[in-house]
Amino acid sequence: AGVLRLLALIFALVTTWMFIRTYISFSMKTIRLPRWLEGPASKEIRVVKSKCSLSKPCPKDYFAFKICSGAANVVGPSMCFENQMIMSPVKNNVGRGLNIALINGSVGTMLRHSYFDMYSGDPNELVKFLKEISGDMLVLVASYDDPGTKMNDEARKLFSNLGSSYAEQLGFRDSWVFLGTKDIKSKSPFEQFLKNDPKTNKYEGWPELLELEGCVPRKVY
Ligand SMILES: *[C@@H]1O[C@H](CO)[C@@H](O)[C@H](O)[C@H]1NC(C)=O
Repeated sequence: AGVLRLLALIFALVTTWMFIRTYISFSMKTIRLPRWLEGPASKEIRVVKSKCSLSKPCPKDYFAFKICSGAANVVGPSMCFENQMIMSPVKNNVGRGLNIALINGSVGTMLRHSYFDMYSGDPNELVKFLKEISGDMLVLVASYDDPGTKMNDEARKLFSNLGSSYAEQLGFRDSWVFLGTKDIKSKSPFEQFLKNDPKTNKYEGWPELLELEGCVPRKVY
């Protein structure tokens, strides 16, 4: 009799559980349940986010990066490298003009970063910064508000030597995102540029913000 009573109890519990499960799967359609209530099926479909939220992970010996330019003069730019936010408005280390981060290209660690006011600043500070870049570094660049007014020929040439195709024409309030390296044989494949043009501008007075993401090969010596 004891065994029978136990079986009856188990049967009752299982039926109740199945009823609850059915009920839950109905309500799941509208209400997001806390994680501990989700069945094993929903765990399987949870996606693993790749570094810097890239659509797919980078192969071995490649670094993941994502660079966003500023939006007009309102939202600052951001740079992610190997899942680290290295420059962003939240980190409070970005500014109007050109935002530049230098990465050790063989180990993928941040070396230094800075921003240069290109509207009223001294362009020689940018030139000095760019001249100190060595061949084993990766250079990440994001514009914010105005990256071009004070740009001089020497800085344009230095950016071109890093593989930029657009530094030559960079001007007032253009949008620009770029990843380059010194002594690059051809032009960098990692660059986007939008000219400030009243006819096509997304915002009043500024073109749309730009996003650049990808996998850059580790530098091997
Ligand atoms: C990059 O890291 C490697 C390994 O730690 C080091 O030998 C090299 O000097 C570093 N390069 C720069 C520019 O910091």
